[in-house]
Amino acid sequence: MRVSIRPPRPEDDAAHRAAVLRSADHLSPWNPVDPDGFHELLRRQGPELQTFLIINDEDGGLVGKCNVANIVRARFRNGALGYDSYRPYNGTGRMSEGMRLVVDRCFASWPDGLGLHRLEINVQPDNSRSVGMAKRLGFRHEGFSPRMLYINDAWRDHERFALTAEEWPGL
Ligand SMILES: CC(C)(COP(=O)(O)OP(=O)(O)OC[C@H]1O[C@@H](n2cnc3c(N)ncnc32)[C@H](O)[C@@H]1OP(=O)(O)O)[C@@H](O)C(=O)NCCC(=O)NCCS
Repeated sequence: MRVSIRPPRPEDDAAHRAAVLRSADHLSPWNPVDPDGFHELLRRQGPELQTFLIINDEDGGLVGKCNVANIVRARFRNGALGYDSYRPYNGTGRMSEGMRLVVDRCFASWPDGLGLHRLEINVQPDNSRSVGMAKRLGFRHEGFSPRMLYINDAWRDHERFALTAEEWPGL
């Protein structure tokens, strides 16, 4: 493992802003680019949203960010993963390593982990790098949902992938 994960902290704002700005061209087709949104993201952390930063151990740089969003407890115990990787670490396999740590943390029992049972990844059909990520992590393709999420000023179709704790081999 070349990376570790941890929750975001206020002092990560500058590193996050710089990482988003230098990665804007590969993020913008798929996710909103919001270099100024870090404090709002921190404010929203809670039972329904947990963010993890993926850190490059060698130099402390920001490899990426993963939001575990729409967390629902009770009989569902489900969360939706949304992620971005940042230059210069994208395409080096570090994001995938970090995502494995995130999945592990999501399925780990409370209080060490989030105690979730099911995770989903929803991807626009043409986003081949993200489809690759979902498959690399072992997520199953469950279906296709037209006009599922409002991104970049339009309702976008999504392929739906999911994984339950029973299917996760662990690290
Ligand atoms: C989707 C996204 C997060 C993938 O991140 P990434 O940085 O490409 O992730 P990784 O580097 O872990 O991906 C592995 C890739 O690196 C390559 N790689 C290079 N060195 C590697 C190594 N040592 N180990 C593993 N993979 C390595 C792999 O071959 C693989 O390439 P491939 O996708 O062409 O098969 C990124 O492209 C991104 O931020 N996209 C824009 C936002 C987005 O789409 N978010 C998801 C919305 S659903």
